[in-house]
Amino acid sequence: MTKILDGKNLRDKIFENLKTKLDKMPIKPTLAVILAGDDSSSRIYVNNKKKCAEKLGINSIVIEYPVNVTEQEIITKIQELNEDDKITAILVQLPLPKHIDKLKVIDTISPKKDVDGLTTYNAGKLFSGEKPYVYPCTPKGILLLLDEYNIEIEGKHAVVIGRSNLVGKPIAQMLLQRNATVTMCHSHTKNLADIIKTADIVVSAVGKNVVGEKNIIKNNCVIVDVGIFRDEAGKVRGDVENISPAYLSPVPGGVGPMTIASLMLNTVELFLFNKTL
Ligand code: GUN
Repeated sequence: MTKILDGKNLRDKIFENLKTKLDKMPIKPTLAVILAGDDSSSRIYVNNKKKCAEKLGINSIVIEYPVNVTEQEIITKIQELNEDDKITAILVQLPLPKHIDKLKVIDTISPKKDVDGLTTYNAGKLFSGEKPYVYPCTPKGILLLLDEYNIEIEGKHAVVIGRSNLVGKPIAQMLLQRNATVTMCHSHTKNLADIIKTADIVVSAVGKNVVGEKNIIKNNCVIVDVGIFRDEAGKVRGDVENISPAYLSPVPGGVGPMTIASLMLNTVELFLFNKTL
C-alpha cells in the first residue's frame, strides 16, 4: 500500500503555528508580489498566496503589469520596494514575459528580502554549502514533508528529474547537503528508467508524465511529484501516474500546499531577521 505524503495536512499545521506566532507580533511582515503578464496559472498562484497571507495576518500587496511592461519598469519598482522599510519580502512571480531578462530582474531584489531564495547571492550561498537568507520555497517544502514522515535522506540515492532554478537545482543541492547521493536527470538523460530503478527517492519536476507503469522501482521507493500541468482535456495532472511506491507525494495535495507553506515561513523568517538588523 502506498502511503500518501499529505502536504495539505502539514501546511495546515504550519499555518496554525505561524498564526499563533503572528498574532503575538505588534508589527506584521509585508510581502510584495510582482505579477507581470497574463499567465492564467500565475494569476491563480498569486491570488492563493495573497489569500493565505491574509488568513495568517501577513500584509500583502500585489503589483500587476501588463504583458508589454518593460524590464526597466519592473527593476525600478523592485528598487523602490528594496528601499521601503515596510516591505519585508519581495517575490517576482515566474514566468515573466519572454522579452524580460529574468535573472536581471530577480537579482535586483535585495537578498535580505528575496523570499524565494532565487537571487544569485542566495543561490550562491546554497551552492557553496553556506546558509542563504532563506531556502527556495518548493525545495524547502519537499524537505519539510519528507521530515514530517521521518523519511531518511542520509546515504540514500536521490534521483532528481528536472534542472530548473526553482526546483531541480536547489533540491539536488539541499539533498546533497543532507548527505544523499544525488543523480540529476533532465531531458537529455539517457536510460532514465535504469536510473529510476536504483532510486530510494525520486523528485520529479518536469511538467509532463515521466514516471509511470513502465517504471520498475525499489520496494521502499519514495516519489515526490512536483510537476503540474493540464492535459488537452483540461485535467490537472502530475509527472507521476499509475505507479505505487512506498510513499508518494501526489498532485494535487502534496508539494503544492507545501510551497505556499514555505513561502509564508520564509516571509516570517525574513521579517524577524530584518527586524533584528
Ligand atoms: N512560479 C511557479 N512557482 C513559483 C515559485 O515558487 N516562485 C516564483 N517566484 N514563481 C513561481
